Amino acid sequence: MGRLLDDAQIAAFDRDGVLAIEGFVGPEALAELRQRANDIVDAWEPTAAATVFTTEDQQRRSNDEFLSSGGRIWCFLEEGAVDAEGHLTRDKSLAVNKIGHAQHDLDDVFERFSYTDDLAGVASDIGLSDAVALQSMYIFKQPGIGGEVSCHQDVTFLYTDPLSVTGFWFAVEDATLDNGCLWAAPGRHRDPLRRQFRRRGDNDAGTEFVDLDPTPLPAAPDDLVPLEVPAGTLVVLDGRLPHWSDVNRSPKSRHAYTLHCISAGADYPDWNWLQRGEDMPLRRLDRSDR
Ligand code: FE2
Repeated sequence: MGRLLDDAQIAAFDRDGVLAIEGFVGPEALAELRQRANDIVDAWEPTAAATVFTTEDQQRRSNDEFLSSGGRIWCFLEEGAVDAEGHLTRDKSLAVNKIGHAQHDLDDVFERFSYTDDLAGVASDIGLSDAVALQSMYIFKQPGIGGEVSCHQDVTFLYTDPLSVTGFWFAVEDATLDNGCLWAAPGRHRDPLRRQFRRRGDNDAGTEFVDLDPTPLPAAPDDLVPLEVPAGTLVVLDGRLPHWSDVNRSPKSRHAYTLHCISAGADYPDWNWLQRGEDMPLRRLDRSDR
C-alpha cells in the first residue's frame, strides 16, 4: 500500500499525538454519511428508558443499551433533551447525542465510509499496520444543547495491552470554537494512562473507573489548543492524548464521525466496557481478512 502521509506529517503526529488532514473526505461522501445518520434517527423509536450519554463520572448510565451497544446501532440522547420523567423535550432529530457503536460493521453506508484504502494507509503510516475497527460513533453536537465531553484519554475507555487505540475523527461539518470543536494537548500523548473504565462483571453490575496514575489531566480549556477544522478534515488522535470538547452554544450543529481502531495483535481484555459477540469479529481496516 502506498504512503498516504508525508514525512513531515508522520513527524508531526509523532511529536504532537494529533494530526489534522484537511480535505481527506469529499463532500459527496460527507453528505451521504450525514443523510444516513439522519435516516437512522428517523427510523429510531425512542423509549422512556432511552439512554442519555455523558462522560461525567457519576452520571454515566451504565444500562443494558450502553453495555450492549458494542455490537449494535443505538441512538443515545443529549442530557438536556430529556425531562425528569424521561420524556423528550424536543424532536428526536434534535435530541440525539450520538449513534453508536457498531454501525461501521452493520450499516452499508458507514461500512463504505470506514473501510477505505486511504484510511488504512494513514493507520499504517503512523505504525498501526494491523488496525482493526473497534468502535464507531456519529456525534451530532446539537445546536444549543450539544454536551461537553470532559477531558479524557481514549485509552481509558478502550484499553489494550500494549496500548494501541487510535482515534480517527472526521469533521462531517465545520468544527469551530462556537459549535464545540475538539481541543487537545499536543505532546501530552506521552503522558501516563490515568484511569481505566471497566465493567464490574455482568451487565447488571455496571461499570467503574479504576485510578492508575494521579497526574492531573490538562485543564480545559487553558492547557489545551482548539482544533478548528473545515468539513472533510480527518483528525488522527493518539489514544493517550488528552482531549476535550465544549458545549455547543451556537445555533449550528457540529456533526462528526469517529472510528476507533486498535492493533489486531494487542490483547483486548474482557473487562473493557465495549464488547461484541463472537459472531461479530473485529475486521481489519485494510480488508486483508476478507
Ligand atoms: Fe475521545
